[in-house]
Amino acid sequence: MKISGTGSVLPKKVVTNDMLAEFLDTSDEWIYPRTGVKSRHVISDEKLEDMAIEAAKKALDDAGMTASELDFIICSNVVNEYITPQLSCIIQGGIGATCPCLDINCACAGFIYALDIAESHYKAGRVKNVLIVCAEEPTRMTDWSDRRTCVLFGDGAGAVVLTPGDNIKGISLSSASATDKLYQIRTLQPTPYITKEEVDIPLQMKGQDVFKFAVKASSSDITKVLKENGITADDVDHVLLHQANIRIINAIRDYLEQPAEKFPTNIEDHGNSSSSCCPILLDECRRKGIFKKGDKVVMSAFGAGFVSGAALFEW
Ligand code: ACO
Repeated sequence: MKISGTGSVLPKKVVTNDMLAEFLDTSDEWIYPRTGVKSRHVISDEKLEDMAIEAAKKALDDAGMTASELDFIICSNVVNEYITPQLSCIIQGGIGATCPCLDINCACAGFIYALDIAESHYKAGRVKNVLIVCAEEPTRMTDWSDRRTCVLFGDGAGAVVLTPGDNIKGISLSSASATDKLYQIRTLQPTPYITKEEVDIPLQMKGQDVFKFAVKASSSDITKVLKENGITADDVDHVLLHQANIRIINAIRDYLEQPAEKFPTNIEDHGNSSSSCCPILLDECRRKGIFKKGDKVVMSAFGAGFVSGAALFEW
C-alpha cells in the first residue's frame, strides 16, 4: 500500500512542566533532561472520539477521498470512555463510512500493527483503501499524584489513509510478555457471584525496565526490517520513533550510528501519546515538507505487553 493522506489533532490545553510543579513534587529541571518533555497537550473538555473523527476527516481530505471509498477502518486505542461499541465504529459513523471496522489494542506500537493488518488485507486482495486512526488519552490512565508517570504523557489522535501502491517495503513485529512492567488494571461491574478480589490500579511502570526493552526491541526490529530489504541504516533518510523519551530515541540513534537530523521529534511539546505518536509525527513531518519523493522512512514503536514493531516505506 502507500500513504496517501495524513491528519492529526491535539487537545487545546497545554500543560507545562512548571504547571505540574504547582501540584506535584517535581520540576522542569528533573523532567526535561530525563525525558525530553517540556509540555504536553491534555484532554480537558474534548471527547477522544471527536478528535479521532476530526483526524480521520483531515487524512481523507489530504488524500482527496470520501469516506464512502474506504474498504476498512482500523482504530488503535488503549482506552477511551466507551468499553463498547468499538471506537472504529464511532469513527465510521462520524465520517459517514460504511465499511467494516476493527479496533486493536497494541499499546504504543498500535500504528505499526495496524499498518501490518492493512497491508496483509491488501495483499490478500480484500481491500483497496484503508483508514488507520490512532486515538489515545493516556493522561486518563495515570494517577495525577504520581510524579513518576503522569509527567510523561499527552493526548492526541493521528490518522493515515492507505491506498493501492508499493511504498510499504516491509514490517517487522515482535512481542515479549512482561505484564508486570507496564500495566493498568480496572474493576468490572460487580455481580452476585464474584468471589475473587479485584483491584483498580492506575498506570504502573517500571521505568528502567521499559527503557531497556524499548531500546533493545526497537533497535532489533529496525535492523531486521532493513536487513530483509537489503539496506542499512545509512540508506535510510528519516527514522520516526515512538516519542516516549528523548533518551530512548538517542540510545536507538547511537545504536544505529546515525546523525540527529534523521530523527525528527515532537516529544518536547507533545509528550507520549501512546500509539498516536507515530501518525501525529508522520503528519507533522509531511506537512513541514520533510519527506522528498523516494526518501526511505523507517518507523518504530514499542509499548506495554511488551509489543514492538518497525515498518520501512518509501515516500
Ligand atoms: N520529578 C521529580 N522526581 C522524580 C520524578 C519526577 N517527575 N519521577 C521520579 N522521580 C524520582 C523518583 O521518586 C526517585 O526518587 P528516589 O530515589 O528518592 O526514590 C528518583 O527520581 C529516580 O527515579 P527513577 O524512577 O529511578 O528514575 P529514572 O532515572 O529511571 O527515570 C524515567 C524515570 C524518566 C521514567 C525513566 O525510567 C524512563 O525514561 N523510562 C522509560 C519509560 C518510558 O519512557 N515510558 C514511557 C511510557 S511507556 C511507553 O511508551 C512504552
